[in-house]
Formats: sequence, C-alpha cells, structure tokens
Amino acid sequence: MRGDILSLLRVPGDGYVSGEDIAEKLGITRTAVWKHIQELRQAGYKIESRSRHGYRLCETPDLLLPEEIREHLHTKVIGQHIVYSDETRSTNEDAKKLAAAGAADGTVVITEFQGDGHGRLSRGWFSPKYKGVLCSIILYPDYVLPQEAPKFTLLAAVAVVRAMRASGVEAGIKWPNDILFEGKKLTGILTEMEAAMEHIHYIVPGIGVNVNTTLEELPEEVREKATSMRIAAGHPIDRVTFTADMLNALEELLLSVKKDGFAPVMEEWKAYSVTLGQDVRVIGMNRQGDFTGRAVDIDESGALLVDTEDGRKRVLAGDVSIRPHEQK
Ligand code: BTN
Repeated sequence: MRGDILSLLRVPGDGYVSGEDIAEKLGITRTAVWKHIQELRQAGYKIESRSRHGYRLCETPDLLLPEEIREHLHTKVIGQHIVYSDETRSTNEDAKKLAAAGAADGTVVITEFQGDGHGRLSRGWFSPKYKGVLCSIILYPDYVLPQEAPKFTLLAAVAVVRAMRASGVEAGIKWPNDILFEGKKLTGILTEMEAAMEHIHYIVPGIGVNVNTTLEELPEEVREKATSMRIAAGHPIDRVTFTADMLNALEELLLSVKKDGFAPVMEEWKAYSVTLGQDVRVIGMNRQGDFTGRAVDIDESGALLVDTEDGRKRVLAGDVSIRPHEQK
C-alpha cells in the first residue's frame, strides 16, 4: 500500500494529489491514507500537506526501502518479497533462518548496517551505515545439483558486475567472487547453502558492496586493498537503482541457467575476469598447500585451472592473489 501511495504521489505538475483521490484510487478511507502518509514520513519521506490541495512528495530518503527498489524492478521472482531492516547482525544469517522457515523463492533480505557481517574464510565484512548494499537472496534451485552450487557465486558476481557497469564503474572479477576496480575490492560474495546428497534445500548468495563509502570511512587497515563505487566513479551512486539493476540482472541470469545451463554465465564471467592470464599465488584450503602459477581457465564446475611447474592444478576453494609480472 505504501508503494501504491508513493506511485500516486510521483506525479507531474505541481505535485499535489488530494487525499480523496488517493483514497478513491486505492479503495481505502481518507483516514487510512493519512495513516500511511504518517508512516512514510516516519520512514524519512518529506511529504507536504496543504489544505484544499492535498499531499506532495518533496524528498525521498537515501534508504534501500522495498517500495523504492520495487519501483525499478522488472522481475517476476527476485525481490517480489523484500525484508528490509535499519540494522541486523548478518543478512546471510537472517536469510538462512527465513529459508528454513519456508520464505518465498527470490526473497531479498537487505539492511543498512550489519553488526556481525560474515565474509569468506572466517573473515568479517564491515560497511558504514547507509553507505553500502548488504543483501542476501533466498533461492530454491531445484533444477541444479549441490555440486553445482559454487556456480551461483560466479553467477552473482556476473550480476553485480553488470549492475556496476550500468552505473559507469568498469569492475572486474577476481576468482572466485571478489569484484575489483583497479586491483581494489568493491564487493564480496558469500554463498551459503543447506543441501542433502542430491538436493539443494536452499542457497543464499550474500552480497556486500562498497557503494558510497568515502576513503576516510574505509577502515584504515583495508584502505590499501579496498575501494568503493563512489571513489571509482568520482561521484555518489544511487544505491536504489544499483540494487534494482543487480536484482534484475540476477533474475535474467537465473532464467538463462534454467534454459541453457551455466555455460553462457561462465563465458560472461570469463569476459569480466581479471584473474585469467595472470600469474597468481594460490593460498590455503587445498591439500596441495600454497603454490604459484598462471591462471589459465575455469572448468565447467567453476574451479580455477592453474598451470604450475608441476603441471596443471585445479583449485576448488581458497584465495588467490594476483602477482605482478616478474621483471625479466
Ligand atoms: C568476502 O569477501 O569474504 C565475502 C563478504 C560477503 C559479505 C556479505 S554482506 C551481506 C551478506 N551478509 C553477510 O553476513 N555476509 C554477506
């Protein structure tokens, strides 16, 4: 209902819409309209009211409110249900609980601040309040086997890069899921799932994007390694449009997987990759230990293929650092 009222208030002309008109169009009483207007004001919208004219929307807050995001969505599944909070511990934790309780496919959990954001390899994820996009998407991909789950991380990375490029930020992907601009990290993705041997119960890609964080707001210890879309573009980015672009891209990519499998998504991932063709150091999580070599490709399961002095190695998990080309 709040979204419907906002749509009616976004009118050309002097911007005034009478309470009576709104009530009639939405089939509610004028008192109900007034109550919704009060709620919108509490959420941060500046709405003027003038006797005999009605209501006028003067200012929309810079918040990731569901009714704002939905305005830009053209999806059928992703984001039809959005769970928004001003603060939470971790959207991945919330999404996993909601998925276990049977939340709808495509539900998006999104927040302005996480008290305990999780990253890969037991790291954390910090983003100053109202500056990033912190979200997790609940998916029930019954058309995919559990061993294919890592590919959802690649797919999510492709969706983020598409949306970033639409905002003018030429980002690239470092295997498996870091999104970089000029070597510095803009986004992290943590995909978690609940599965049995042959069936994924749910899968939750969690995406953290540094959108409008300024250099001063980045924690000192990460300034060398991290950046934000705002720093990259040289101007603030509209978080709502960016979020909707990302969710629209996600649905498009999921539909393409259903139709044609993962191959086209993997090709797009390769086109955005900043890892392939580079000399890399592979760190941890493999029984092989740390090693160096040249990253040459990803295979059909999303594993990174690295040519080393001891032959080709397949990296399924871990961290990769790109090494500057050695001086000859
Ligand atoms: C990484 O780079 O290690 C992955 C970071 C993933 C962070 C996001 S923020 C939204 C979602 N909720 C979490 O707790 N983590 C992910």
